[in-house]
Amino acid sequence: MPFVGRERELCQLTGALARPPVVILIEGEAGVGKTRLLHELTGRSMLFGSCHPMRFPYGPVVEALREACPPKDLNPITGALRPLLPECAHLLPPAPPALQNAQVERHRLFRAVLSLLDALGPITLVVEDVHWVDQDTRELLGFLVRCLPPTVNLVLTYRGEDLRHPVAELLAHLPPRIDHAELALAPLDVEQTALLAKHLLPGAVDLWPLTCGVPSAIEELARMLADGRPPGTPPALRDTVQLKLDALPPVARRMVQAAAMLDEPAAPKALASVAGIPPEQGERGLAEALRRGLLRECTPGAYGLRQPLARQAVRESITPMVRRRLSRRIDAPTEPLGILSPREEQVIGLAADGLTNKEIAESLFLSPRTVEVHVANALRKLGLTSRRQFQRTAPHTTRRT
Ligand SMILES: Nc1ncnc2c1ncn2[C@@H]1O[C@H](COP(=O)(O)OP(=O)(O)O)[C@@H](O)[C@H]1O
Ligand SMILES: [Mg+2]
Repeated sequence: MPFVGRERELCQLTGALARPPVVILIEGEAGVGKTRLLHELTGRSMLFGSCHPMRFPYGPVVEALREACPPKDLNPITGALRPLLPECAHLLPPAPPALQNAQVERHRLFRAVLSLLDALGPITLVVEDVHWVDQDTRELLGFLVRCLPPTVNLVLTYRGEDLRHPVAELLAHLPPRIDHAELALAPLDVEQTALLAKHLLPGAVDLWPLTCGVPSAIEELARMLADGRPPGTPPALRDTVQLKLDALPPVARRMVQAAAMLDEPAAPKALASVAGIPPEQGERGLAEALRRGLLRECTPGAYGLRQPLARQAVRESITPMVRRRLSRRIDAPTEPLGILSPREEQVIGLAADGLTNKEIAESLFLSPRTVEVHVANALRKLGLTSRRQFQRTAPHTTRRT
């Protein structure tokens, strides 16, 4: 598969990894390309292990080390890893005798991992999907970052939205001699999305509106189109969204469903009104949905699903009865149309003066996309079809209190 973009990130990573010992954190949503980015790094010894939702104790470290080719003359302490690494037990010294105290044994195991990494260096240990880290690996990583050998780097990848135990805890353990770098991986931009689509599909198809540049969604959608299937919700994404929805408290779930039924990102009050719950409860539900990464603040004060395909997946998961209820509240809002937010008033005031979206964006220090959303929301709320009609409307709009 071709690799698109990410020149800056590759350069950043290569630079950081060249100066061991360093700890690198890579954050990004599911399918954004964290794993792929690391596999694009060439000429470097890397050992990969992943955390899994089952949270197997020491799972990622065992996965990574079983791939190792240890040199001869290892420190005898590495023999303590024999039971964990039967695949390469023959390359390790004899296992030391069992100890009576479990904590002492645990310390010996941690030291064995450290000693093996030291012997393998120069090397980069990659622990992927740390949002699923098990308690034992978490503590082992805490130990490793404190005494990372001089030729060993540690890279951790994680989804910010799924993280319960902040990786900040690991950084807190870092002694000053060990550098750290953080990389937030964003989706591909419009041009890169088009480039990847061009590699995957014969004709020019615009996959941006549905995927918002998330590579895994681009790939899945392209596969569906190539197979002649309609561009529906990719099954993997549907399952992920469903699992996340099921794990939400009911009020938060209802806020997400309300957001999915609305065509545009909406204010918390509007979401709560469509969800049919009191505003304070709605605020709490919204906070939870944001924390779990199902909703995001698309423009200041307006919340929606992270990407159109996720919105489609949530919509498909809503039962017909709930859908009817939500639709009814959208069609008969409790808040009268025509009430604009202060920002929307500002935007349409400038639009009425004849400014373009770009000019409005510059004068209000917003992005053109944000202005576009405000204009669209104002048109909808005022029941207008063209921004030219703002001229007559702007002076009569009501300010929200
Ligand atoms: N920059 C990119 N160019 C092309 N394909 C990519 C790119 N980034 C990711 N992909 C593809 O998208 C899919 C998901 O990427 P992956 O690295 O597994 O995401 P993550 O690890 O963030 O969940 C993979 O099939 C990968 O090959
Ligand atoms: Mg990955």
